Amino acid sequence: MSNSEKKAASYAIIGFGKIGQALARAFARKGIEVAVATTRDPESFTAEATAIGPEIIPATLPEAVKADIIFLAVRFESHPDVAKALPNWQGKTIVDVTNAYGVTPEQMEGLPSARFVAKAFTGGKLVKGFNHLGAAILDQDPAVNGGKRVVFLTSDDDSAAAEISVLAENLGFAPVKLGGLSEGGLLVQAQGNSWGKLIFQDLVKF
Ligand SMILES: NC(=O)c1ccc[n+]([C@@H]2O[C@H](COP(=O)([O-])OP(=O)(O)OC[C@H]3O[C@@H](n4cnc5c(N)ncnc54)[C@H](OP(=O)(O)O)[C@@H]3O)[C@@H](O)[C@H]2O)c1
Repeated sequence: MSNSEKKAASYAIIGFGKIGQALARAFARKGIEVAVATTRDPESFTAEATAIGPEIIPATLPEAVKADIIFLAVRFESHPDVAKALPNWQGKTIVDVTNAYGVTPEQMEGLPSARFVAKAFTGGKLVKGFNHLGAAILDQDPAVNGGKRVVFLTSDDDSAAAEISVLAENLGFAPVKLGGLSEGGLLVQAQGNSWGKLIFQDLVKF
Protein backbone atom coordinates (compact mmCIF):
# COMPACT_ATOMS: atom_id res chain seq x y z
CA MET A 1 0.00 0.00 0.00
CA SER A 2 1.45 3.39 -0.93
CA ASN A 3 1.46 6.23 1.59
CA SER A 4 -1.30 8.03 -0.29
CA GLU A 5 -3.51 4.92 -0.05
CA LYS A 6 -3.00 4.54 3.71
CA LYS A 7 -6.05 5.40 5.73
CA ALA A 8 -5.49 8.48 7.91
CA ALA A 9 -5.49 7.69 11.63
CA SER A 10 -8.68 8.51 13.52
CA TYR A 11 -8.68 10.22 16.91
CA ALA A 12 -10.78 10.35 20.05
CA ILE A 13 -10.59 12.07 23.41
CA ILE A 14 -12.22 10.28 26.35
CA GLY A 15 -13.16 12.86 28.97
CA PHE A 16 -14.35 16.32 28.01
CA GLY A 17 -13.51 18.27 31.14
CA LYS A 18 -10.74 20.84 31.45
CA ILE A 19 -8.03 18.74 29.79
CA GLY A 20 -10.30 17.06 27.23
CA GLN A 21 -11.52 20.46 26.07
CA ALA A 22 -7.97 21.89 25.94
CA LEU A 23 -6.94 18.94 23.74
CA ALA A 24 -10.05 19.36 21.59
CA ARG A 25 -9.13 23.00 21.02
CA ALA A 26 -5.67 21.91 19.82
CA PHE A 27 -7.29 19.58 17.24
CA ALA A 28 -9.77 22.27 16.13
CA ARG A 29 -6.96 24.82 15.75
CA LYS A 30 -5.39 22.59 13.11
CA GLY A 31 -8.65 21.46 11.47
CA ILE A 32 -8.21 17.82 12.57
CA GLU A 33 -11.39 15.87 13.39
CA VAL A 34 -11.63 14.20 16.78
CA ALA A 35 -14.44 12.34 18.56
CA VAL A 36 -15.09 13.27 22.20
CA ALA A 37 -16.89 11.10 24.75
CA THR A 38 -17.77 11.04 28.44
CA THR A 39 -20.12 8.81 30.46
CA ARG A 40 -22.99 11.03 29.32
CA ASP A 41 -25.23 11.18 26.29
CA PRO A 42 -23.31 13.11 23.56
CA GLU A 43 -26.23 15.53 23.19
CA SER A 44 -25.50 16.81 26.69
CA PHE A 45 -22.13 18.26 25.61
CA THR A 46 -22.81 19.06 21.96
CA ALA A 47 -23.03 22.79 22.70
CA GLU A 48 -19.54 22.82 24.26
CA ALA A 49 -18.17 20.79 21.32
CA THR A 50 -19.75 23.06 18.73
CA ALA A 51 -18.35 26.10 20.53
CA ILE A 52 -14.82 24.71 20.02
CA GLY A 53 -15.27 23.88 16.35
CA PRO A 54 -16.94 21.70 13.72
CA GLU A 55 -14.02 19.22 13.98
CA ILE A 56 -15.15 18.16 17.46
CA ILE A 57 -17.57 15.24 17.13
CA PRO A 58 -19.60 14.34 20.25
CA ALA A 59 -19.83 10.56 20.57
CA THR A 60 -20.75 7.76 22.93
CA LEU A 61 -17.88 5.88 24.58
CA PRO A 62 -18.41 2.75 22.39
CA GLU A 63 -18.30 4.93 19.26
CA ALA A 64 -15.24 6.90 20.40
CA VAL A 65 -13.11 3.84 21.17
CA LYS A 66 -13.33 2.82 17.50
CA ALA A 67 -10.62 5.46 16.86
CA ASP A 68 -7.01 4.40 16.29
CA ILE A 69 -5.54 6.90 18.74
CA ILE A 70 -7.38 7.56 21.99
CA PHE A 71 -6.52 10.26 24.51
CA LEU A 72 -7.35 9.26 28.07
CA ALA A 73 -8.41 12.55 29.68
CA VAL A 74 -10.42 11.25 32.64
CA ARG A 75 -9.45 11.29 36.31
CA PHE A 76 -6.88 8.59 37.08
CA GLU A 77 -9.45 6.68 39.17
CA SER A 78 -11.78 6.41 36.14
CA HIS A 79 -9.30 4.69 33.80
CA PRO A 80 -10.46 1.13 34.63
CA ASP A 81 -14.03 2.08 33.60
CA VAL A 82 -12.80 3.39 30.24
CA ALA A 83 -10.67 0.26 29.76
CA LYS A 84 -13.82 -1.89 30.06
CA ALA A 85 -15.14 -0.32 26.83
CA LEU A 86 -13.15 -2.89 24.82
CA PRO A 87 -12.18 -6.47 25.68
CA ASN A 88 -8.88 -5.98 23.88
CA TRP A 89 -7.10 -2.80 22.80
CA GLN A 90 -4.94 -4.40 20.12
CA GLY A 91 -4.23 -1.97 17.28
CA LYS A 92 -5.01 1.05 19.47
CA THR A 93 -2.67 3.66 20.86
CA ILE A 94 -3.73 5.16 24.19
CA VAL A 95 -2.32 8.53 25.15
CA ASP A 96 -2.37 8.67 28.95
CA VAL A 97 -2.92 12.27 30.02
CA THR A 98 -3.89 11.34 33.61
CA ASN A 99 -2.02 12.43 36.70
CA ALA A 100 -2.20 10.06 39.65
CA TYR A 101 -1.90 12.83 42.24
CA GLY A 102 -2.98 11.55 45.64
CA VAL A 103 -2.76 7.91 44.58
CA THR A 104 -0.33 5.98 46.76
CA PRO A 105 2.49 3.76 45.40
CA GLU A 106 0.72 0.79 47.05
CA GLN A 107 -2.48 1.54 45.13
CA MET A 108 -0.38 1.44 41.93
CA GLU A 109 1.32 -1.81 42.97
CA GLY A 110 4.66 0.05 43.08
CA LEU A 111 4.52 0.68 39.33
CA PRO A 112 5.04 3.97 37.46
CA SER A 113 1.52 5.39 37.03
CA ALA A 114 1.49 4.90 33.25
CA ARG A 115 2.56 1.24 33.63
CA PHE A 116 -0.36 0.75 36.01
CA VAL A 117 -2.73 2.37 33.51
CA ALA A 118 -1.25 0.34 30.64
CA LYS A 119 -2.08 -2.92 32.45
CA ALA A 120 -5.80 -2.07 32.25
CA PHE A 121 -5.70 -1.55 28.47
CA THR A 122 -4.84 -5.12 27.49
CA GLY A 123 -3.18 -5.38 24.09
CA GLY A 124 -2.97 -1.61 23.54
CA LYS A 125 0.13 0.55 23.13
CA LEU A 126 0.42 3.30 25.71
CA VAL A 127 2.16 6.64 25.43
CA LYS A 128 2.17 8.97 28.41
CA GLY A 129 2.05 12.59 27.37
CA PHE A 130 0.37 16.01 27.20
CA ASN A 131 -0.08 15.73 31.00
CA HIS A 132 2.64 17.94 32.44
CA LEU A 133 0.92 21.31 32.00
CA GLY A 134 -2.09 22.82 33.73
CA ALA A 135 -5.21 22.81 31.58
CA ALA A 136 -5.20 26.61 31.23
CA ILE A 137 -1.76 26.46 29.58
CA LEU A 138 -2.44 23.37 27.45
CA ASP A 139 -5.54 25.21 26.21
CA GLN A 140 -3.44 27.98 24.63
CA ASP A 141 -2.04 28.10 21.12
CA PRO A 142 1.29 26.20 21.33
CA ALA A 143 2.89 28.67 18.90
CA VAL A 144 4.63 31.00 21.36
CA ASN A 145 6.84 33.92 20.29
CA GLY A 146 8.09 32.08 17.22
CA GLY A 147 8.70 28.85 19.19
CA LYS A 148 6.58 25.81 19.98
CA ARG A 149 5.37 24.64 23.39
CA VAL A 150 7.03 21.39 24.47
CA VAL A 151 5.07 18.25 25.31
CA PHE A 152 6.87 15.26 26.82
CA LEU A 153 6.18 11.74 25.54
CA THR A 154 7.23 8.47 27.14
CA SER A 155 6.44 4.94 26.05
CA ASP A 156 7.77 1.41 26.12
CA ASP A 157 6.80 1.14 22.45
CA ASP A 158 9.04 3.18 20.12
CA SER A 159 6.63 3.00 17.18
CA ALA A 160 3.75 4.34 19.29
CA ALA A 161 5.97 7.12 20.66
CA ALA A 162 6.93 8.03 17.08
CA GLU A 163 3.28 8.02 16.00
CA ILE A 164 2.23 10.37 18.81
CA SER A 165 5.29 12.51 18.22
CA VAL A 166 4.13 13.13 14.64
CA LEU A 167 0.62 13.91 15.89
CA ALA A 168 2.00 16.34 18.50
CA GLU A 169 3.93 18.12 15.72
CA ASN A 170 0.78 18.25 13.59
CA LEU A 171 -1.02 19.83 16.54
CA GLY A 172 1.70 22.50 16.66
CA PHE A 173 3.65 21.29 19.70
CA ALA A 174 7.34 20.42 20.03
CA PRO A 175 7.40 16.81 21.26
CA VAL A 176 10.33 15.67 23.42
CA LYS A 177 10.63 11.90 23.83
CA LEU A 178 11.91 10.83 27.24
CA GLY A 179 12.23 7.07 26.72
CA GLY A 180 10.46 4.29 28.60
CA LEU A 181 7.66 4.52 31.16
CA SER A 182 9.94 3.39 34.00
CA GLU A 183 12.61 5.95 33.13
CA GLY A 184 11.31 9.14 31.49
CA GLY A 185 7.84 8.33 32.75
CA LEU A 186 8.91 9.04 36.32
CA LEU A 187 9.84 12.62 35.38
CA VAL A 188 6.33 13.39 34.18
CA GLN A 189 4.11 11.57 36.64
CA ALA A 190 2.40 12.25 39.92
CA GLN A 191 2.35 9.81 42.79
CA GLY A 192 1.11 10.34 46.32
CA ASN A 193 1.72 14.00 47.10
CA SER A 194 4.71 14.41 44.78
CA TRP A 195 5.11 15.53 41.19
CA GLY A 196 7.79 14.42 38.72
CA LYS A 197 10.52 16.98 38.08
CA LEU A 198 9.23 18.02 34.66
CA ILE A 199 5.60 18.47 35.67
CA PHE A 200 4.47 22.12 35.34
CA GLN A 201 7.65 23.08 33.40
CA ASP A 202 6.18 25.19 30.63
CA LEU A 203 8.98 25.05 28.05
CA VAL A 204 9.08 26.50 24.54
CA LYS A 205 11.44 25.16 21.85
CA PHE A 206 12.96 27.55 19.32
N1 LIG B 1 -6.83 19.94 35.09
C1 LIG B 1 -5.54 20.02 34.85
O1 LIG B 1 -4.93 21.10 34.90
C2 LIG B 1 -4.78 18.78 34.45
C3 LIG B 1 -3.47 18.91 33.96
C4 LIG B 1 -2.79 17.77 33.53
C5 LIG B 1 -3.40 16.52 33.62
N2 LIG B 1 -4.64 16.43 34.14
C6 LIG B 1 -5.24 15.10 34.24
O2 LIG B 1 -6.19 14.98 33.19
C7 LIG B 1 -7.28 14.17 33.62
C8 LIG B 1 -8.57 14.96 33.43
O3 LIG B 1 -8.52 16.10 34.25
P1 LIG B 1 -9.61 17.26 34.13
O4 LIG B 1 -9.12 18.36 34.99
O5 LIG B 1 -9.92 17.49 32.72
O6 LIG B 1 -10.85 16.53 34.85
P2 LIG B 1 -12.39 16.93 34.75
O7 LIG B 1 -12.53 18.37 34.38
O8 LIG B 1 -13.01 16.43 36.01
O9 LIG B 1 -12.93 16.05 33.51
C9 LIG B 1 -13.03 14.67 33.58
C10 LIG B 1 -13.84 14.20 32.39
O10 LIG B 1 -13.86 12.77 32.37
C11 LIG B 1 -15.20 12.33 32.11
N3 LIG B 1 -15.34 10.98 32.66
C12 LIG B 1 -15.33 10.57 33.95
N4 LIG B 1 -15.42 9.23 34.04
C13 LIG B 1 -15.50 8.77 32.77
C14 LIG B 1 -15.62 7.47 32.20
N5 LIG B 1 -15.64 6.37 32.97
N6 LIG B 1 -15.69 7.37 30.84
C15 LIG B 1 -15.65 8.47 30.06
N7 LIG B 1 -15.53 9.74 30.55
C16 LIG B 1 -15.47 9.88 31.88
C17 LIG B 1 -16.05 13.38 32.80
O11 LIG B 1 -17.34 13.43 32.27
P3 LIG B 1 -18.64 12.81 32.99
O12 LIG B 1 -18.30 12.65 34.45
O13 LIG B 1 -19.69 13.81 32.72
O14 LIG B 1 -18.85 11.52 32.29
C18 LIG B 1 -15.28 14.65 32.41
O15 LIG B 1 -15.66 15.07 31.12
C19 LIG B 1 -7.00 13.79 35.07
O16 LIG B 1 -6.42 12.52 35.12
C20 LIG B 1 -6.00 14.84 35.53
O17 LIG B 1 -5.14 14.37 36.54
C21 LIG B 1 -5.36 17.52 34.54
